[in-house]
Amino acid sequence: MFPSGPAPDPAGSRAEHRIRSFHARRGRVTHAQAAAIGRHWARWGVELDGTPLDLPALFGSPDMPVVVEIGFGMGDATARMAAADPSTGILAVDVHTPGQGNLLALADSLGLTNVRVANGDAIVLLRDMLPPASLSGLRVYFPDPWPKAKHHKRRLIQPSFLALVTPLLRPGAVVHCATDWEPYADQMLDVLTEAPGLVNRHEGFAPRPDFRPMTKFERQGLAKGHVVRDLLFTRV
Ligand SMILES: C[S@@+](CC[C@H](N)C(=O)[O-])C[C@H]1O[C@@H](n2cnc3c(N)ncnc32)[C@H](O)[C@@H]1O
Repeated sequence: MFPSGPAPDPAGSRAEHRIRSFHARRGRVTHAQAAAIGRHWARWGVELDGTPLDLPALFGSPDMPVVVEIGFGMGDATARMAAADPSTGILAVDVHTPGQGNLLALADSLGLTNVRVANGDAIVLLRDMLPPASLSGLRVYFPDPWPKAKHHKRRLIQPSFLALVTPLLRPGAVVHCATDWEPYADQMLDVLTEAPGLVNRHEGFAPRPDFRPMTKFERQGLAKGHVVRDLLFTRV
């Protein structure tokens, strides 16, 4: 469908038989999203195929701080945060093709030059593609909550995930998570609190920061009466 666009499984990682944190589905891609992929993928798209990344080359700047956002969904919050802080590069990761198209279209229409759209499993990015101390932050907003007990092992925020993330962060880098699923919020707080090298910037959960725009999944959670929790930790 996209000869020069996002690949279905760029790292071939299905063969790893690893437990995944996402649903293997691409979703229906609108005409506008497909057009944005056609126009911008070659310039702003990144395949998470395991090849090490050169972040200064990717963002066209030797010293631009880079944050990774995992699971940007439709990318509306990503685009707004990128517009609000053009001096920070955002490497936005998802497997969701309609969202990739949407974010590329938003980046184009807003004239953003600091967003790159990565396709594939974020675990491949963290495990194989980034040098130590290369990131100024990590954002994970409303990750799939996997509410059933038999699916908890699919949750992204767990000790093995933070063991991959922490060495990639520069001192002072911020890990920012948010969720509307209270049992997952409690798990995040436990796991982040116990992660070596990370310190909570607040007592327990953080007050909602005004720099994080409302996301689609947050809106849906609030409509169901869920409580939204933010967590902000610093790499020491
Ligand atoms: C519940 S949605 C939240 C989307 C968005 N942050 C929001 O708040 O509207 C979670 C997203 O994370 C993505 N995701 C989950 N695990 C991932 C992984 N390992 N690598 C890349 N994307 C992942 C899913 O494809 C999905 O789009």
